[in-house]
Amino acid sequence: MNLTLKIWRQASPKAQGAMKTYPVSGIEPDMSFLEMLDVLNEQLVVKGEEPVVFDHDCREGICGSCSLYINGEAHGPGRGITTCQLHMRSFKDGDTIYIEPWRAKAFPVIKDLMVDRSAFDRIIAAGGYISVNTSGNTLDANAIPIPKEDADKAFDAATCIGCGACVATCKNSSAMLFVSAKVSQLALLPQGKVEANERVLSMVAQMDAEGFGSCTNTGACEVECPKGISLENIARMNREYLRAAVVTE
Ligand code: SF4
Ligand code: FES
Repeated sequence: MNLTLKIWRQASPKAQGAMKTYPVSGIEPDMSFLEMLDVLNEQLVVKGEEPVVFDHDCREGICGSCSLYINGEAHGPGRGITTCQLHMRSFKDGDTIYIEPWRAKAFPVIKDLMVDRSAFDRIIAAGGYISVNTSGNTLDANAIPIPKEDADKAFDAATCIGCGACVATCKNSSAMLFVSAKVSQLALLPQGKVEANERVLSMVAQMDAEGFGSCTNTGACEVECPKGISLENIARMNREYLRAAVVTE
């Protein structure tokens, strides 16, 4: 396949960025989208041009770092997959493909297609954990019975990989789907209930402090989420927040 790529190039966080056009040749339909970008970068290096910077790590849908906006969609066409799981057979020979970084005030561009998502880390640090004294007194994992329905819902919430597609998709750049998944995975389990009130208040306060917008209620985040995180988690987080606000008043 021969393709035309329109790619956002930006030398540094403060530099003016622009879309640049690159032809790329020799692309196989079975290549992943990131492998296609590897081919482009090899061709750029041979020509003495600077390769395109993009974020990636696992390349198997686990780490959440391959954050690309492709033809106006977070993680490109297709549902339930990350950019690294997108294959070039989703495109046709001769296509023009637009590739941009996540667009959100709380995710500033570092360079080209790579953004800074450390705002998510600070939200987790604000409460996305449980405090357990493990000094020689660790309980067996099966010692606390948990209803299967709760365990399944907690596990589903825990599949969030922190990619940020929900933020990039939302017109308000809201992080509600991400934060609600992280609140839910602990709120549903007995181990997480001890610190539940402080957790939801702290994580929501940090989310607001980072500059994420409010929920639009359009559900676009759920549609574009590669892990199928449900809006049900946002409803649960709102209930958790209301209860916490009342009891800690
Ligand atoms: S909720 Fe979905 S889209 Fe948002 S960060 Fe988690 S996995 Fe990514
Ligand atoms: S590179 Fe890890 S999820 Fe895509």
